Amino acid sequence: MLVLGIETSCDETGIALYDSERGLLAHALHSQVEMHAAYGGVVPELASRDHIRRVLPLTRRVLDRAGRRLQDLDGIAYTEGPGLAGALLVGAAIAHGLGHALAVPVIGLHHLEGHLLSPLLSTPAPGYPFVALLVSGGHTQLMRVAGVGQYQLLGETLDDAAGEAFDKTAKLLGLGYPGGPALARLAEQGRPGRFTLPRPMLASGDLNFSFSGLKTAVATLVRRSPPDAQARADIAAEFQSAIVEVLAAKSLAALELTGLARLVVAGGVGANRLLRDTLAARARRLRIDVFYPEFEFCTDNGAMIALAGALRLQHRRPGDEERRSGGFSVRPRWDLEMLTVV
Ligand code: KG4
Ligand code: ZN
Repeated sequence: MLVLGIETSCDETGIALYDSERGLLAHALHSQVEMHAAYGGVVPELASRDHIRRVLPLTRRVLDRAGRRLQDLDGIAYTEGPGLAGALLVGAAIAHGLGHALAVPVIGLHHLEGHLLSPLLSTPAPGYPFVALLVSGGHTQLMRVAGVGQYQLLGETLDDAAGEAFDKTAKLLGLGYPGGPALARLAEQGRPGRFTLPRPMLASGDLNFSFSGLKTAVATLVRRSPPDAQARADIAAEFQSAIVEVLAAKSLAALELTGLARLVVAGGVGANRLLRDTLAARARRLRIDVFYPEFEFCTDNGAMIALAGALRLQHRRPGDEERRSGGFSVRPRWDLEMLTVV
């Protein structure tokens, strides 16, 4: 089954072709980061207009690279939500337009389901069940994943997402957008421990997170005495180490609670080097396997949507049918647990 994946939920246009027998055939991405950088964040209307310009040329590019034609497609998957309404509508409209013209099934997908399943694009792929740590700009969740569509929420953030905390703190330290990678780079020149920041909810006894206090603590530090270049790097290092410590500790607690030994880390913050090194060191000791998507599939991309679409179209679950039939919709807000069919 050959599936075209279309991702337009935020500021990246991602297109990919996934073949259920042969794997990922081709993918292409256009990032709008430079366009939004001037505004210090994503401007939704500009994002939608740029997606409109990019989707079809990128689709042609992946088809050419894979040596396939539109007529070869067996299905089309697009991100239905959550995300920016206007941006989602671009992907939805094009997916349904193409699907109608080609008379192939079209399926709308949950963006986080794409992230969650993205390590299945790599070899070796994790077997089910596994614990997934989803850490993106909009979400921080620990899930137990038993199969496609079988997701149990174990814990989540009560306020800011981990990526959001990185982005907001980066702004406080005078770094540009997107803040996460910039803050991580700055942290390399700093030393944790010179400033002390809290490890929020580290000892809360549950699997929930809270990151907004951390950002406020950084704001207070910066206000108290404007930091010089070295102090900014030291604050960045302490901030990164606080977030990573909490994410790693709660992920291991989730494995212990579920009795599982497989951890999947997905979403943009999964690209963070310190998080990877910390988890690797602890996993070795505890004989746990940690899986990541390839670096390029950590942040938003079309490959994860094409893959999740192929899996869903192949193993239809109750609820998929109605999601495929009624015109097209987008869900700017959409709870991942609603997908779970028990
Ligand atoms: O998954 P993603 O591409 O988009 C969302 O669905 O949100 O994640 C983007 C988030 C941003 O908050 C970005 O700052 C963060 O991931 N991020 C990082 C790193 N790379 C991306 N945060 C920390 N360290 C990184 N290396
Ligand atoms: Zn994402």
